[in-house]
Amino acid sequence: MKKQLLYVANWKMNMLVDQAVDFTVACKEFVEQNKDLAGAIAICPTFLHIAPVVEILEDSPIGVGAQNCSEHESGAYTGDVSALALSDIFCDYCIVGHSERRTHHNESNEVVARKVAQLLANMIFPIICIGETAEEHDLQQTQEILESQLLPIIEVLNNAEQLPGVLTIAYEPVWAIGTGKTPDSASLEKTFKWLTNYLQTQVNEKIEFCLLYGGSVDEKTAPQLAQVKGLGGFLIGNASLDFQKFKNIVGLTH
Ligand code: PGA
Repeated sequence: MKKQLLYVANWKMNMLVDQAVDFTVACKEFVEQNKDLAGAIAICPTFLHIAPVVEILEDSPIGVGAQNCSEHESGAYTGDVSALALSDIFCDYCIVGHSERRTHHNESNEVVARKVAQLLANMIFPIICIGETAEEHDLQQTQEILESQLLPIIEVLNNAEQLPGVLTIAYEPVWAIGTGKTPDSASLEKTFKWLTNYLQTQVNEKIEFCLLYGGSVDEKTAPQLAQVKGLGGFLIGNASLDFQKFKNIVGLTH
């Protein structure tokens, strides 16, 4: 049987309450009509919209995620949101290490790893984003960049008191995000294969890794990308802002 893919909608800094509600209600109905999609979709709104989305999805198998969290447990960190506060409002997932946060907020690999630790301690599934820039890609440095991004995270995983059965990693080449460009199937498969082997040898505990691909996933690119061996799902930005487009991606590939 084909493994169900995971579809994560990353709304970034988009959507107002009405739009978030409309999307969520439509998505809930879609999953009610397609029971095989239970657990296959997660929506990541802005912090402000997590609570209303969670409320609509109370009895639904659709997950809800944040797009970031603090690396600290609690305290005097004006404007930040803790993993504990996210778990308190029934957030299931949290994206960390997105390249936009690494770039615009100078988040280092170590900061991202500390966020992962906070999420694991609060039983929220991290969606850990990694990926190389265009320049690194051209210099064929993809594997060493991914390795440097993963190293402090592996240390956290190997010291965590509790690990989820499945850990989600999103490979998002920076040059593919919002550009319309995607890696070709052969190089993506090579990266996934390397990632799977690397993670299995570095992480002590036997856990499963779900490898997502993110970067210009839309109705045109998704069918081909979905064929790539080792792919566990998609992290979708732009095309997740329109429910019809998001639904089409799921419909074409699940
Ligand atoms: P995109 O964004 O689908 O708009 O390229 C993906 C992401 O940044 O998560």
